[in-house]
Amino acid sequence: TASHPAHAHVLVIDQGTTSTRAIVFDHHMHPVAQAQEEFPQIYAQPGWVEHNPETLWATVLGTARAALQKAGLAASDIAALGIANQRETTLIWERSSGRPIHNAIVWQDRRTASICDRLERDGHAELIAERTGLRIDPYFSGTKISWMLDQVPGARARAERGELAFGTVDSFLIWRLTGGRVHAIDATNASRTLLCDIRSGTWDPDLVRLLDIPVSLLPEIRDSAGSFGETLPELLGGAIAIRGVAGDQQAALIGQCCFSPGTIKATYGTGGFILLNTGTELKRSKHRLLSTIAWQRNGVRHYALEGSIFSAGAAVQWLRDGLGLVESSAETGRLAEAADPAQTLYLVPAFTGLGAPHWDSRAQALITGITRGTTKKELARATLESVGFQTRDLLAAMLADDDEPDRTRSVFRVDGGMSASNWTMQFLADTLDMPIDRPAFRETTAMGAGYLAGLDAGVYPEPEIFERQWKLDRRFMPNAVPEDRDRRYRGWQRAVKLALTPQD
Ligand code: G3P
Repeated sequence: TASHPAHAHVLVIDQGTTSTRAIVFDHHMHPVAQAQEEFPQIYAQPGWVEHNPETLWATVLGTARAALQKAGLAASDIAALGIANQRETTLIWERSSGRPIHNAIVWQDRRTASICDRLERDGHAELIAERTGLRIDPYFSGTKISWMLDQVPGARARAERGELAFGTVDSFLIWRLTGGRVHAIDATNASRTLLCDIRSGTWDPDLVRLLDIPVSLLPEIRDSAGSFGETLPELLGGAIAIRGVAGDQQAALIGQCCFSPGTIKATYGTGGFILLNTGTELKRSKHRLLSTIAWQRNGVRHYALEGSIFSAGAAVQWLRDGLGLVESSAETGRLAEAADPAQTLYLVPAFTGLGAPHWDSRAQALITGITRGTTKKELARATLESVGFQTRDLLAAMLADDDEPDRTRSVFRVDGGMSASNWTMQFLADTLDMPIDRPAFRETTAMGAGYLAGLDAGVYPEPEIFERQWKLDRRFMPNAVPEDRDRRYRGWQRAVKLALTPQD
């Protein structure tokens, strides 16, 4: 039973942008069963992206039950539940019924660009950066909350009466799993809302006022490893304690064992998120990166610098589903390999604007360098290369921000769906001109949330011991001719300039 550590398992729910996964880990942190369900993206208007909250919830229950069943385990075998989630995505629901008042507004959604323009014009950028470590951009939750309160009829009045609750996906799931007993958010998720003072890990009254958000909407901010209540027994066949919660990118940092300052992980899913651990010290970027809470345990906050790429795997998905050029994502690597080396095609995948370091929510995706000889091979290569080039933009910013750039150039670990592509990872190593390490176990997001939960439950050891189980699958060594590499990168930089909104 769970009371005996040797039999204890940990269940993890990883609620991502395009699918939900559940994984059961045993007491050695080996995955013993998993389940996955995809769900639809709702594009109601150009630039808008929504998820149906009931669908999210159904995939969470469906995958969690399926994973337990595949593992042949009951709720009583599970010592703790961990949650990792797509970050920033915003929900507001009724406290009385748990029913959302609107679809979830997804992190990629740009509908609040004009609210952001106003905040910028009114001169709030500095205050926001100082308190939150973030920039004014529709990406973060704050302006999405304001939009819902203003656009959903009656929402603001109801919020003022204390009838509604806000949460990112973690809070919504905790609320539903505990039957409304717990309204909480972990510190990493709170750090993405535009409302949290990341120096103290508390809601900032000035920002809450600035965005005109009733305080009664806000969840309680808790440690990432700690108690978030228990699941209602009827949901998973028995009560399970929720003991670890983190935004998926922070969870991946932990799952990659990037515990020491200077270590970097890059996750290539829908987007691409590169996080550099900066330790317990909050570092400020001078090169348009974000500062963010990496995890919080026993009230102590660890921080990271983050570069966020909005479209990585999303660009490959566009080749597959939007253009129908390939049947599977895996095909793109083979096409890229066969592309004509003499052609220089660039794809700037600004499908939902550009994130770091440009922060241009109105930037437009484009392709440059098309000739009569261009085929889908060159387009596939340009798509995969765009991930490498965007990462180089961010690594350059990180190194420029860093007092110890040599240390920062030593560990770069990759994960996420696209890290399976050998072609893309080799291109990444070549473009960054540094070795890239791909671990044997690539569900690092689930691993990180599971580790937080198991650590809090006393099933998993302290980080120094946990990191010994990280195993290398393959190291990609840089192998490019420097002149070629830099010429190609300059071409990318020219293409990006064309994609940006003209400053006049
Ligand atoms: O900030 C958004 C990020 O958390 C989404 O991650 O893996 O769902 O694309 P993913």
